[in-house]
Amino acid sequence: MGIASVPVLSAFARDVAEGLSASVKKLSPQYLYDDLGSALFEAITLLPEYGLTRADERLIARHARAIIDAGDFETICELGSGSGRKTRHILEAAGRDAVYHPIDVSDAALATCKRELGTLARVEAVHADWVDGLRTIRRKRSEAPLLLLFLGSSIGNLDRAEIIPFLTTVRTTLRPGDCFLIGFDLVKDVDRMLEAYDDATGVTAAFNLNLLGRMNRELQADFDLRSFTHEARWNADARRIEMHLVSSRAQRVWVGALESEFLFEAGETIWTESSHKFLRDELAGLARGAGFKELNIWIDSEWPFAEALWRAE
Ligand code: AVJ
Repeated sequence: MGIASVPVLSAFARDVAEGLSASVKKLSPQYLYDDLGSALFEAITLLPEYGLTRADERLIARHARAIIDAGDFETICELGSGSGRKTRHILEAAGRDAVYHPIDVSDAALATCKRELGTLARVEAVHADWVDGLRTIRRKRSEAPLLLLFLGSSIGNLDRAEIIPFLTTVRTTLRPGDCFLIGFDLVKDVDRMLEAYDDATGVTAAFNLNLLGRMNRELQADFDLRSFTHEARWNADARRIEMHLVSSRAQRVWVGALESEFLFEAGETIWTESSHKFLRDELAGLARGAGFKELNIWIDSEWPFAEALWRAE
């Protein structure tokens, strides 16, 4: 094929090419969130087995006043806001003068934030991923202290080795006196964790399988969704839940956008997500390691989940 006829590939297409060619097939969890995936994730947050989001919201509702009183915040930013549902409590405590910047890759999510929170604060949406979003904030912010939210244990999607470097990037985006509210899902009973990622209704399975559907829709792939099954595994050494898509038979899959075929053995998996779980005692080290001072930690009593409030030093 001549150079001129090589089509320009999207980042998704390039990452799929690399991820499905690797000896351990792997895709980044960010690609789970197209419009259907985002809707399925919202459904996950309502599952009786998935207590994480409710714990997060209980803590925020209960401690919104203390969070807002930690600084004279003019700007409130949120990385991966989703629908912004939990943030309502913080904006209510902050009062009407606050500017709220939700940062998300989904236009649908940002539209929901505007609609739901627009009467509580001035909402200025930022369509970007985490790192670009942080850059945008640095340009847009005022001199006054800023509160950055990173809720729902989204940090758990990063590999352990990436956590301190990422938190350090966050820290260098902020100014001394700014605050960072970050949620960490804690290690708990293994069966409870496994059920949270493999619910009886099958919503998490649908969320995971939708990634194959997305490749079919956007990359002209021909995955047979019925010949893959969802699996959640607890990796005790790495302290994380891993989501996999298991090929139930030997098969070949064609991805039109890549003009490539990928082979699967029976039982071979695509690793689609890691959700790291944290120990209460490791949080202080993460704060310190990235240049933050720990101001407060609140832990939910029903579902072990920690909300940490840190100040940039
Ligand atoms: C949004 C990344 C925090 O890891 O628990 C839920 C995503 N995956 N069920 C998580 C998710 C499967 C969720 N995070």
